[in-house]
Amino acid sequence: MKRKVPYLKLFFFTVPRRRGIAARLAVLSLVLAAIAAAWCLADLTSQVLLPPQPILALDHYAINRSLKSYLDNISVLIEPSSTVCSDNKRVDVLVLVTSSPKRFAQRQAIRDTWGKYVPAYFVLGLDGPAVEDLTADNYLEAKAYGDMIIFQFLDHYQNLTLKSALMMQWTAARCPSHLDELMLFKTDDDVLVNPWVLRRVVQQNSGKDLIGYRKVNSYLHRDAYNKWYVPRWLHRHDFVPEYLSGTGYLIKGSRLEEILQAAFEVPIINLEDVYFTYIVSKIKLNLTLTHDRRLSPYKPWLPLDCIYWGLASTHSLTPNEILGAWPSIERLGKRYEHGFDNCLYFVNNIWTELYLY
Ligand SMILES: *[C@@H]1O[C@H](CO)[C@@H](O)[C@H](O)[C@H]1NC(C)=O
Ligand SMILES: *[C@@H]1O[C@H](CO)[C@@H](O)[C@H](O)[C@H]1NC(C)=O
Ligand SMILES: *[C@@H]1O[C@H](CO)[C@@H](O)[C@H](O)[C@H]1NC(C)=O
Ligand SMILES: *[C@@H]1O[C@H](CO)[C@@H](O)[C@H](O)[C@H]1NC(C)=O
Repeated sequence: MKRKVPYLKLFFFTVPRRRGIAARLAVLSLVLAAIAAAWCLADLTSQVLLPPQPILALDHYAINRSLKSYLDNISVLIEPSSTVCSDNKRVDVLVLVTSSPKRFAQRQAIRDTWGKYVPAYFVLGLDGPAVEDLTADNYLEAKAYGDMIIFQFLDHYQNLTLKSALMMQWTAARCPSHLDELMLFKTDDDVLVNPWVLRRVVQQNSGKDLIGYRKVNSYLHRDAYNKWYVPRWLHRHDFVPEYLSGTGYLIKGSRLEEILQAAFEVPIINLEDVYFTYIVSKIKLNLTLTHDRRLSPYKPWLPLDCIYWGLASTHSLTPNEILGAWPSIERLGKRYEHGFDNCLYFVNNIWTELYLY
């Protein structure tokens, strides 16, 4: 009598059960290839259907590129009545987060997660150039949470250099007695910070001037459609040998005033990270840019808890992704505070770059 072979249904394929594993793998790779193809196609069609707008908002740089003349014109409208610098307790790291008027959800995600474990303040401008452009929403939010620093200038992507300069100026002015001990961490509101690893990065790099994810041998974008477009009249060299990614870098507090003063002598460009870390700090002041891969401009595509545990910051997350990844980071953090490092083996032995994009 013929033995009946058990059959297995796999999506729309039916295969004998004994070839199950190989077939499953084959089908899985087919599905993955199809997803990748669909992704590429979608990307391509969106580029064809939606021709991007050229970046035209750089005109103000043609009128004045003096950082000092900009800063002198920008006043702080709202700031916390007291900060972590108000008392005499030691401050090892102060986090300033670039945000903008409408990104309430991003701020809220940070307040509910890593913002509970490290002093973090949000820095933003206005929807327009005048005091009247301060919205009631932003005013009430600032009063309710006491963690917003709102400056009177137009919040615009092309004004990020001004925002970073304002962060340094504010820190130097509001934390004068803590400058020798603290590090300023400049980051964005789509970044997930791991406070425990950030503190470790700070401790392990004490004495260094600037620490971040060091990008080497880059070329500036010269096409006017690119978000990071830098026209030749702003910076004539195409090549940038090194700079620290603006998604998150640390500056030694005692260097802040020196860097600002030096910047007052260097015409500004629209890329804040290239400007402050390379043109001002590296070229003008000959400071060393220290690479630490844990201040990552990438994020994991495989959401393994231990990957997050190997990184002090991951970039480009939605508020929901931040909220979703947080509970396990917090759990690991609590254990770490009690002397257990669950991810020690993973972090030391697995090449985590493999899981980032
Ligand atoms: C900010 O950016 C806009 C658009 O690029 C520009 O018009 C404005 O003058 C900039 N500066 C300030 C201080 O708002
Ligand atoms: C441009 O900057 C210079 C140098 O700080 C300043 O003297 C001048 O008034 C500024 N010009 C304008 C139009 O703001
Ligand atoms: C600063 O403000 C003065 C007076 O309002 C103005 O003339 C000047 O152009 C402003 N400078 C910049 C760089 O915006
Ligand atoms: C810059 O700093 C490096 C070491 O940090 C030093 O070797 C070099 O001589 C300095 N260059 C200048 C021009 O001061």
